Amino acid sequence: MSAGTSQALSRGFFLTFEGPDGSGKSTQLRKLSAWLEREGQSVVVTRQPGGTPLGDRIRALILDSRTGNLAPMAELGLMFSDRAQAIAEVIRPALEQGRMVLCDRFTDSTEAYQGGGRQLGSEIVLRTHKVMCGGLNPDLTILLLADFDRSLARARRRNDRTAASGQNEGRFESEDVEFHRRVYLKYREIADREPGRVVSIEGDQPIEAIHRRIVAVVDERLRSMAGPC
Ligand code: ADP
Ligand code: TYD
Repeated sequence: MSAGTSQALSRGFFLTFEGPDGSGKSTQLRKLSAWLEREGQSVVVTRQPGGTPLGDRIRALILDSRTGNLAPMAELGLMFSDRAQAIAEVIRPALEQGRMVLCDRFTDSTEAYQGGGRQLGSEIVLRTHKVMCGGLNPDLTILLLADFDRSLARARRRNDRTAASGQNEGRFESEDVEFHRRVYLKYREIADREPGRVVSIEGDQPIEAIHRRIVAVVDERLRSMAGPC
């Protein structure tokens, strides 16, 4: 399939991937990025938390399961500090150059994990987003929702593998099942609230089938931005 995406975008395009841990975001993001590059797009790939030198330090701190006693509000503040830095250093400059930014997680994650999981509620997350993110919202969000038990099991297995290699990023995966259920339900709520921005994709399909569906959605969006030929 040729997307007609090969001309540079005049104002950039901000695409985020969302979903619970282990839903397949990173796998799909890599595949989409490779497809877009074959189509001639200039792509910037980043992730949250992380993606800048400061963000990588924040990531190490908040994902490390040895970081005990982090107050939910402190966690919320760190997520938005990481995001403000990434917007200033990576995302805005790339969009201003007309590039496509693919970001693994953004504010929907904060709403799902801190708003839902930690039970701070959506309102404080959306208000903080307005203050800290300077009005930047994704043009499109791909939300991957696989079967709840299966994706949690996948995330925990992957975490055991990374822990064996000396990395410790398991602070969220080790939360109890009820935490993860609240995250999952909050994602569904966000998708119902913003159907124009958020496209939910059934994650219990083979990797290639999900990729084809994502390509179709992105292709259609980029064509509609380009307008009639
Ligand atoms: P996330 O970034 O959402 O945490 P990953 O892309 O890292 O998820 O995937 C988590 C694990 O599940 C990886 O081992 C990956 O290879 C596997 N995986 C990803 N997508 C699928 C899929 N559709 N079916 C089966 N396994 C998958
Ligand atoms: P990551 O490696 O991106 O997630 P995944 O397991 O899906 O590959 O880890 C990021 C973790 O941080 C993940 O458990 C979700 C959590 N998180 C928040 O709690 N709030 C946020 O705002 C963000 C961006 C992530």
